[in-house]
Amino acid sequence: MSKKNNSIGVFDSGVGGTSVWQEIIKLLPYEKTIYLADSKNAPYGTKTQNEIIALSEKNTEYLLQRNCKIIVVACNTATTNAITHLREKYNVPFIGIEPALKPAALHTQTKAIGILATKGTLSSALFDQTKEKFAKDIEVVEQVGTGLVELIENNQINATETTNLLQKYLQPMMQENIDYLILGCTHYPYLIPQIQRILPENVKIIDSGEAVARQTKKILTQNDLLTTSNVKPLHEVYSNASIDTLKSLLKDVDAIMKIEKLDF
Ligand code: DGL
Repeated sequence: MSKKNNSIGVFDSGVGGTSVWQEIIKLLPYEKTIYLADSKNAPYGTKTQNEIIALSEKNTEYLLQRNCKIIVVACNTATTNAITHLREKYNVPFIGIEPALKPAALHTQTKAIGILATKGTLSSALFDQTKEKFAKDIEVVEQVGTGLVELIENNQINATETTNLLQKYLQPMMQENIDYLILGCTHYPYLIPQIQRILPENVKIIDSGEAVARQTKKILTQNDLLTTSNVKPLHEVYSNASIDTLKSLLKDVDAIMKIEKLDF
């Protein structure tokens, strides 16, 4: 039976991957989606690679049980640590997300770029390889965003603690005169208004959400898996912890969705 009208499965360690999910439903408005926020186990960024693989498998297996036709790993940490393994183990297309080093390295004028990401992403072999490939002659100021994922999970985006941490993390980058800041964690786009208040105007802030949506469309097209529906679907959004933050982050999203707690 054709899988065309099955859902796109999306998962993240928590609520952050909805920044990617929002790009996907904008670009593919008739595709059904199932989003999993593994908030009970967030953050992934401080876990070992084996732990991240095990959690990514658990999320994938739920989405496969629900017959998802493609899986978007909307988490840089899970992508850089587990996607190779997932692709080997499961027979479904996977789309991952990685920090946008390439466009930043290509366009920087000051030859200095900043990246804010989790420890798990910055210490991964995949990140090292990408850096070596695209940003060899560029100064890359790396910063682990310790504490930021937890604050976003707890709906503390505008808290003083969040501002203070951002100031601390961005200061060394400004000293190096960066002109690009890469958000290497899918939670961080929700901090953009805050970050903009700290950084000078000339610094461009980039993330990979839109590119992931385009890649998802491309792979669905190549595999002849685009939906045949032309009706706006019901999106299923689940968290295995509190759904308060999801509700608050998605309150202005123009889509039909149910946001519920689910054990997975
Ligand atoms: N959204 C995840 C990412 O992109 C956050 C990782 C974490 O839970 O630490 O890396």
